[in-house]
Amino acid sequence: MTFVVTDACIRCKYADCVEVCPTGAFREGAAMLVIDPSDCIDCNLCLPECPADAILPDIEPESAQWIALNAKYAAEWPSITVKKDPPADADAFKGVEGKFDRHFTPEPGVGD
Ligand code: SF4
Ligand code: F3S
Repeated sequence: MTFVVTDACIRCKYADCVEVCPTGAFREGAAMLVIDPSDCIDCNLCLPECPADAILPDIEPESAQWIALNAKYAAEWPSITVKKDPPADADAFKGVEGKFDRHFTPEPGVGD
């Protein structure tokens, strides 16, 4: 099992999750974070930290479509282990449906 970041993270990027991860498993895209499945040790520390409820165990049915996305971009995006300020309009995107189609980008983030 691993944990995955879902589209609820898109344009929120609160980054509380990265501070608690003991293995540095998070990677930063321009619009969202993902978890590298080869680094995640299933500790469950990140899940309750996310204000957007964007993190799920991969055994949840709604995780299925995000497993491949996390693995793909974890190999392309830079590591993030230190929390940074979220986008100024992050709260406006919290809980918004359909963010992947409108706001996802494969562009990498800045990382640490
Ligand atoms: Fe990191 Fe644990 Fe979350 Fe996996 S479950 S990403 S190891 S904090
Ligand atoms: Fe995203 Fe939640 Fe982390 S919004 S950056 S998964 S704290």
